[in-house]
Amino acid sequence: MTACPDTVGRVSTTPPARDTAIGIGTDTTAGGAEHPDRLARWRRWTKPVLVANLVAQIGIIVTGGAVRLTGSGLGCSTWPQCEPGQFTAQFHPETTYHQFVEFGNRTLTGVLSVIAIAALVLVWTDRSRVLSYRVLGAVPLLGVAAQAVIGGVIVLLHLHPGWVSLHFVVSAALVAVSLLLLHRSGEGDGPPVPTVDVPTRTLAWVLGGLTAVVVVLGVITTGAGPHSGDSEVGYRLAVDPALMSKLHAWSVWAFVAVLVVYLVRVRSASETVRRAAWLLLAITLAQGAIGYVQYFTGLPALLVGLHMLGSALLVAGTTRVVLTTRTRGALEVPTTATVAPGA
Ligand code: HEM
Repeated sequence: MTACPDTVGRVSTTPPARDTAIGIGTDTTAGGAEHPDRLARWRRWTKPVLVANLVAQIGIIVTGGAVRLTGSGLGCSTWPQCEPGQFTAQFHPETTYHQFVEFGNRTLTGVLSVIAIAALVLVWTDRSRVLSYRVLGAVPLLGVAAQAVIGGVIVLLHLHPGWVSLHFVVSAALVAVSLLLLHRSGEGDGPPVPTVDVPTRTLAWVLGGLTAVVVVLGVITTGAGPHSGDSEVGYRLAVDPALMSKLHAWSVWAFVAVLVVYLVRVRSASETVRRAAWLLLAITLAQGAIGYVQYFTGLPALLVGLHMLGSALLVAGTTRVVLTTRTRGALEVPTTATVAPGA
């Protein structure tokens, strides 16, 4: 098999064992033929694009929060148009700033879509990587598409609390996948090898499960509280917000307890594992403090917005903790010769 001389390929230092073994990671193209990498000179943009994707996925949670906290949820009265007959927010005597806040959030969705498309192209076309990684590259774009539909349903159903909660939960899941994608882009495609013992790894997964519980109880608390996203829809879910806040806080304490046990167990693990765990503790303490302060000060909008940012960071932090409990080996070393994937 002859390599194309103008091709920049990659030599894998580790075989793409697991995915290949189960038949989904074969990166060879039809017939095992080698293809020149037409995007070779763009590959160095993969990491910056994936970082931008993660930042934007977190950012849209914050701008979505701004929509809700400024009561701009129905700033645009319809979807996909902002107002009947116009796609953008426009000045006219009755226009309020709400329309522009809501339209700004919709615009950021556009920016996010462009980044997600770039991520898809760069990741999917990288034939030197296993299929499971390349498929992951499609998730941000699919997620943004799903979020655009959910956002539209929210407007059409006048801020239905169930859909607003789903909107947040899907965004949180997208933050987790975006972090996973970024992490995978920087490591090899070998089979996952544990970096800690089984009980410690289990604890990391328990933290992941508890994060989901904390976030879901959080969105229910919000749904029962005063920040509905529209001043005329001040109350949403028919559950006691004070009780929900307590359940939410108790689930956080359970999370903290598991995290402390995890920190003790990883005290002699690698620096990467320990650093991820300590960072998660710092995020958790800051987020918990904001949670209590906002609870006891009548939910000021700024703190609620910070709490949303903290939630996204905590999801990313927990994902990183789980990911550091295993490794897939070093990233392939770029070379000027093409090597058949899986060779
Ligand atoms: C440390 C981990 C924590 C995480 C990951 C977290 C996450 C969340 C999330 C995702 C929401 C929903 C945001 C939304 O739908 O816009 C929320 C709301 C809320 N959280 Fe937390 N939270 C944490 C800690 C706490 C603590 C310790 C308290 C203390 C009581 C607290 C009190 C609240 C309250 C009162 C709301 C409702 C805010 C509103 O009505 O707008 N949180 N939290």
